[in-house]
Amino acid sequence: MASLPVVQAPAPESFGKTLRRDRWWTSPLLTAATLIIAGGYATLAIIFGEGAAYAPPYLSPFFSPCLGESCHPEFRIASIPTFGLSPALLVMAVVFGFRTTCYYYRKAYYRSLFMDPPACAVGEPWGKGYRGETFFPLVLQNFHRYFLYLALIVLAFLWYDTAKAFEFEGRLGVGLGSIILTVNSVLLTGYLLGCHSFRHLIGGSVDCTGCSRFGKARVGAWKKASWFNAFHGSWAWASLVFVCIADLYVRLVASGAIHDPRLVF
Ligand code: FES
Repeated sequence: MASLPVVQAPAPESFGKTLRRDRWWTSPLLTAATLIIAGGYATLAIIFGEGAAYAPPYLSPFFSPCLGESCHPEFRIASIPTFGLSPALLVMAVVFGFRTTCYYYRKAYYRSLFMDPPACAVGEPWGKGYRGETFFPLVLQNFHRYFLYLALIVLAFLWYDTAKAFEFEGRLGVGLGSIILTVNSVLLTGYLLGCHSFRHLIGGSVDCTGCSRFGKARVGAWKKASWFNAFHGSWAWASLVFVCIADLYVRLVASGAIHDPRLVF
């Protein structure tokens, strides 16, 4: 007689209880550590680190676009009064809003920081009564598309500042910093191009692509964005970690701790 299939019972409801035998806690632990380290580093660099954010022709990506009156004149886009605060706080508000409302990051920090739940089939601490994102403040996650529009503007300025990283006192050149800042911009672009809201914006908001204006072009763009979207989590992590590395590199050059190898033509 054939044996009956084994059916797993649902996870116990108390926090951390589970029937899983794998190391389910590895992923939330690593995720939480990365978010806390990268977020903490970025916050400290932005609030207290303006002095070492400029190493012409390199500008820390946290300070791009440079909008404060205290910005280095070589990078200043506008002299908006910042009342003694770091000019990067303006940019941070956009980037922080964009990343925290990102569909991928929501999953990451709901699991790793809120433990809601920490992993599939693992008990969570908040009990019953799931209401999704229908209440304040989680209802604000719906603003993601508006943060996307602002992030597109920030990205355009980031590429402008990246292009300037190839100009050494009026001469064309390339340094290790130029390459690092370019890689940073590529990763952030890949992250943004795979954004669910961006994909919807360029090709997903019509019921009939064949009947809409630029329908064929939109389908093509949507397919390309879908490629980026399939790896959205990887772009998200790579761009988060690398933007900190790029900032650190500019600081090390600005402080004279390291010498930037460069070729000037
Ligand atoms: Fe992740 Fe928009 S969904 S950036």
